Amino acid sequence: MQLSIRVDPDAPHSLQQQLFDTIRRLILDGRLRPGSAMPGSRAFSEQLGVSRNTVLLVYERLIAEGYLQTRPAVGTFVNRSLPEQSLCLPRNPVFASPEPTARAPRFRSPRVPIRAQAVVNPNRHRLAIDFWVGRPDPHTFPTKAWRRRLLHHLSIGGQPLTEYGDPSGLSALRRAIADYLGPARGINTGPERIVIVAGIQQALNIAARLLVHDGATVVLECPCYQGAAYVFEHHGAHLRPVPVDEHGLMSERLPATPVSLAYVTPSHQYPLGGTLSLERRIRLLEWAEETGAYIVEDDYDSDFRHAGSPLTAVAGLDPQGGVIYLGTFSKSIGAGLRLGYMVLPEELVEPARTLKALLDNGNPWLDQAVLADFIASGSYDRHLRRIRQLYRRRRDCLVESLRAHFGAVRLSGLEGGMHAVWHLPTEYPSAPELQALALEAGVGVYALDGGGAIDFDRTNYRERTLLLGYSSLSETEIREGVARLARAFNGPNQLRTGMVGDHPSAAA
Ligand SMILES: Cc1ncc(COP(=O)(O)O)c(C=O)c1O
Repeated sequence: MQLSIRVDPDAPHSLQQQLFDTIRRLILDGRLRPGSAMPGSRAFSEQLGVSRNTVLLVYERLIAEGYLQTRPAVGTFVNRSLPEQSLCLPRNPVFASPEPTARAPRFRSPRVPIRAQAVVNPNRHRLAIDFWVGRPDPHTFPTKAWRRRLLHHLSIGGQPLTEYGDPSGLSALRRAIADYLGPARGINTGPERIVIVAGIQQALNIAARLLVHDGATVVLECPCYQGAAYVFEHHGAHLRPVPVDEHGLMSERLPATPVSLAYVTPSHQYPLGGTLSLERRIRLLEWAEETGAYIVEDDYDSDFRHAGSPLTAVAGLDPQGGVIYLGTFSKSIGAGLRLGYMVLPEELVEPARTLKALLDNGNPWLDQAVLADFIASGSYDRHLRRIRQLYRRRRDCLVESLRAHFGAVRLSGLEGGMHAVWHLPTEYPSAPELQALALEAGVGVYALDGGGAIDFDRTNYRERTLLLGYSSLSETEIREGVARLARAFNGPNQLRTGMVGDHPSAAA
């Protein structure tokens, strides 16, 4: 380690004295912590531009006074048990902290709101079973295949590991994604229209920087994903919520006034889970054409289609090139990878690439190389087939368990994705109340706010829908979790009676 220390040959004190005082002050201030290693005398003397002997004499004196200690053949360290009196020494005026002086406040309230979606469940430590939304099962991470490829690429990495790469991402990865998107999502693109990003969250930030200028109008689904709403809000957009129903965005309700962009989740509307019908997709595209708006299509969990074939993405139906398509590996492999991508209309590719360079000069090469190989080799397809089946079984298990305990529950969003939406009957307590009761019982279920969604219009959904993610829980955990919910909702704290247990199929 290099210490940030300087000595001045023209100062009145000797170099030795200056060095002694400075190291001693760093130790007393706690900036050099007990046990930390001191630099070797040769390297330190070269760094400071003083003779090695000077450094050795200073070290000797600090050792003699108990600030440092040597471990033969290992090095010199800050003493772990500093002499008590040295810590209590009256501070030499040279070392005393300056009197606090009035200074201008540095932080002024931001002009625009800064708030973030809940990425980590704050109550996770209190939960035995957590139906947290949109999380893949950690046991499904393809560890073996990943490790093998990681070691391989590490051994041949060389230059790409030490040099900057193309900020729009590794070309092999962009090629693999383009080849995947054709058959899987009906999007006909080459690698040149793809920019690799650190997840959809970064893609949203890039889209906002490209298209949202103060006062620009952004259409959002209502309710919608907090992470998107807060990005556009932060960029000073005027948010224009448009309601959704069980078929997604009500495209007949889109405004006729000029709009910069419309953010939509057509495959599996977040949070309510509807799939946008073909008719509505076409109406949306016509509207974008008429108003000159871009469509930002967030396809976060479209890899999981449990019933029927997936509909072609809106970007695949768009002959005019007005759709920015966003994809992620957070749901299909793992959010810890922080890897996603944008497929951009031609005129936005270069601006997006430039913004990506401004933000971070591109994603880490090694992760991209491993992922490219994982997709191109066919392993990704096999992985998806495996987890699709697993998640479908878990979805079925959740539906069965809810019916067994609560009767004819009304659910939506089951055709795809990783979570189910439970529409509560009016005689039940509200969703936030049930979320709180479940938490007491060590089970996580989520009203819209708690599940990363925002309901601008304060619709009934806020009170009457619960979100239950099932992908990361085993079937045993799902059954146990729902049984606990039934006990909690019907227990001594129950807010109204007769919720459960009066159904003929209710579990004993
Ligand atoms: C609707 C939606 N879009 C985007 C994301 C963020 O994905 P990423 O991890 O790629 O940033 C999420 C995460 O849960 C999501 O639910």
